[in-house]
Amino acid sequence: MEASKEAEDGERNAEFDASEIDYISYDGEHHLPLIMSLVDQELSEPYSIFTYRYFVYLWPQLCFLAFHGDKCVGTVVCKMGEHRNTTFRGYIAMLVVIKPYRGKGIATELVTRSINAMMESGCEEVTLEAEVTNKGALALYGRLGFIRAKRLFRYYLNGVDAFRLKLMFPQPDLHSYLPMMTNMDDSQHHRDHVSGHTEHIAAEENLKLNSVS
Ligand SMILES: CC(C)(COP(=O)(O)OP(=O)(O)OC[C@H]1O[C@@H](n2cnc3c(N)ncnc32)[C@H](O)[C@@H]1OP(=O)(O)O)[C@@H](O)C(=O)NCCC(=O)NCCS
Repeated sequence: MEASKEAEDGERNAEFDASEIDYISYDGEHHLPLIMSLVDQELSEPYSIFTYRYFVYLWPQLCFLAFHGDKCVGTVVCKMGEHRNTTFRGYIAMLVVIKPYRGKGIATELVTRSINAMMESGCEEVTLEAEVTNKGALALYGRLGFIRAKRLFRYYLNGVDAFRLKLMFPQPDLHSYLPMMTNMDDSQHHRDHVSGHTEHIAAEENLKLNSVS
């Protein structure tokens, strides 16, 4: 009885104003247990401490934590690097906001900060994978302009398929293509039912568009 009441309380929305949330860049090993605890609670994939260290040691500038007072309520963990010797690509590995703090724009702010840092470092695009059943994450990234580039069959250990999501940064000389990219993103909402193959082709087309100089 007590345990279920505690669980209920844990789910209840927290009362707070957006201005009370502090966003902090990863600042050393003392942040690691906070990140691990959030991700272990909320993501289906189990990660070892080596995985966490790989990300935060090599790309601390792409990792952010959201705090409400002393309480860590959200985090984003990312990396970036050369992809197939052709593209400098950012990658969002983990994103979590604890339940009572959801729906207030915290994840959007965390992701936006990491994307801005990637852009400033010269990334041309950002990718990530999300479970095809994760409506919240798919809506969030869709709003930020990510398209569904590929469907990955049984990608996760739990057997669920993933969408590979991709955001391509407009090149300085491609401003005239921006409206077209926006339209492509909009049309994505109507492509939910098509095959991974079709999605892949759509992504190829977007890539070609972006390579026009
Ligand atoms: C996905 C997650 C990070 C969203 O965090 P959040 O702080 O609530 O997200 P935001 O408040 O920034 O949401 C921004 C937009 O995303 C969409 N969205 C977020 N959660 C949603 C949900 N459960 N259902 C539908 N849309 C949702 C909405 O469009 C929302 O904008 P709106 O509130 O103006 O409608 C959070 O639910 C979470 O931690 N889930 C568990 C872990 C996870 O799935 N991580 C992503 C792995 S790819």
